[in-house]
Amino acid sequence: MPATIVVGTQWGDEGKGKFTDLLAKEMAMVVRYQGGHNAGHTLVVNGERFALQLVPSGVLYEHIVPVIGNGVVVDPFVLLKEMAMLESRGVDTSRIRVSGNAHLIMPYHQQLDALHERHLGKAKLGTTKRGIGPAYADKSMRLGIRVQDLLDEEIFRAKIDAALGHANKVLTKVFNRLPIDPVQLADRVLAECLEPLRPHISDSVNLIHEALEAGQNVLFEGAQATFLDLDHGTYPFVTSSNPIAGGACAGAGIGPKHIDSVLGIAKAYVTRVGAGPFPTELFDADGERMVEIGREFGTNTGRRRRPGWFDAVMLRHAVRLNSLTELAITKLDVLDSFDTVKLCVAYDIDGRRVEHLPYHQSELHRATPIYEEFPGWKTDLTAATEPSHLPRPAANYLRRLEEQVGVPVSLVSTGPGREQFIHWSASGTNAA
Ligand code: GDP
Ligand code: IMO
Ligand code: MG
Repeated sequence: MPATIVVGTQWGDEGKGKFTDLLAKEMAMVVRYQGGHNAGHTLVVNGERFALQLVPSGVLYEHIVPVIGNGVVVDPFVLLKEMAMLESRGVDTSRIRVSGNAHLIMPYHQQLDALHERHLGKAKLGTTKRGIGPAYADKSMRLGIRVQDLLDEEIFRAKIDAALGHANKVLTKVFNRLPIDPVQLADRVLAECLEPLRPHISDSVNLIHEALEAGQNVLFEGAQATFLDLDHGTYPFVTSSNPIAGGACAGAGIGPKHIDSVLGIAKAYVTRVGAGPFPTELFDADGERMVEIGREFGTNTGRRRRPGWFDAVMLRHAVRLNSLTELAITKLDVLDSFDTVKLCVAYDIDGRRVEHLPYHQSELHRATPIYEEFPGWKTDLTAATEPSHLPRPAANYLRRLEEQVGVPVSLVSTGPGREQFIHWSASGTNAA
């Protein structure tokens, strides 16, 4: 299985970083294909915690080539800072490769992101204010600046001029802000970023294909998640890229036939940061406990994540959108102390039982979850490493979840550490 995609199946923060890191052991290359430093992927290795935003989660292994693909939007200052942080902790970053076709996030993108949010007032999306939306908008408007432009000073300066010709009008005339000086900005980016980034800038498409042609294993690490997808998420409460598995084709430059497996990552419950519909959201003591026990505060922005029960309706849709071949369930241990665990199997919409995600979002706003309830297992699972270590109620919950979603659960995570997981497929009870 040379090409595997890891994709978030809910609203993000499912534990993609943990499983990317875990699977990277068997890989030669890990590729990020979309998003930017709105992502916060956490790895815990030997008790040491790493929070990554742009650098692919395989970086901790010496044999891995971490690649930032063409579909990613890259803030060069943030990338250099993250690389410096990793170096200071003894991680070699010399192998990191950045696609010359990836687009740059510039300071005006971040400024515009914050201004748009303020302008929206109560209707704000709750973005990470990292400049993601404005950078992808410039890419679509053909006003973007690519990483490769750094290598040609004349081109870089001309592109900054053109981009600011537009952005400065918006900053000054729409938002009543001071304009940004193109010469000063270009000077600063070239002085601080060009030389340190130069050895990393590369033809990522060629690198990835050489690896695949040599029969090496390549992992594509999704950021954000299925229901934050620009096309398939709960628009407009989404990010500005395509996190779904298909996004890996465009964002890394591979055809769909190259993809051998798609591993969906799902929490044993659900969280969401920022605004937007969320049918199983909890506002009660159970939700509070999920946040407290699961430490549900953003890796990146520190914001409290909204909690809710596992939603199999959403997951069935995620199976379709991503061609999921298997599922990894994370944070099962967070439910260890619950008396009852719930699973949403359908929605009630205006008195009708609905088993698939309604395409009309007004219906999603009115949907109330229909739950199946399970007795809690009341056992500490954090040391469980084999299916037989799971008490019967926990195994029953997983089996029903698997049945409801319709793809096999291959892995179950029982703590943040790299070693805290179970090969659930070894239980022999998979749905498919
Ligand atoms: P990502 O964005 O999908 O990579 O996920 P994040 O790193 O933003 O959030 C997941 C959080 O849960 C991180 O703090 C992880 O260390 C932690 N985590 C991952 N798997 C588990 C698990 O099985 N149990 C517990 N308790 N924490 C986990
Ligand atoms: P990882 O990869 C959770 C959310 C933001 C906001 C919306 C749009 O760690 O799972 P943006 O800054 O992208 O324009 O914000 O998307 N969001 C995330 N939520 N995890 C993430 O990444 C996210 N990246 C963006 O909170 O609601
Ligand atoms: Mg995260």
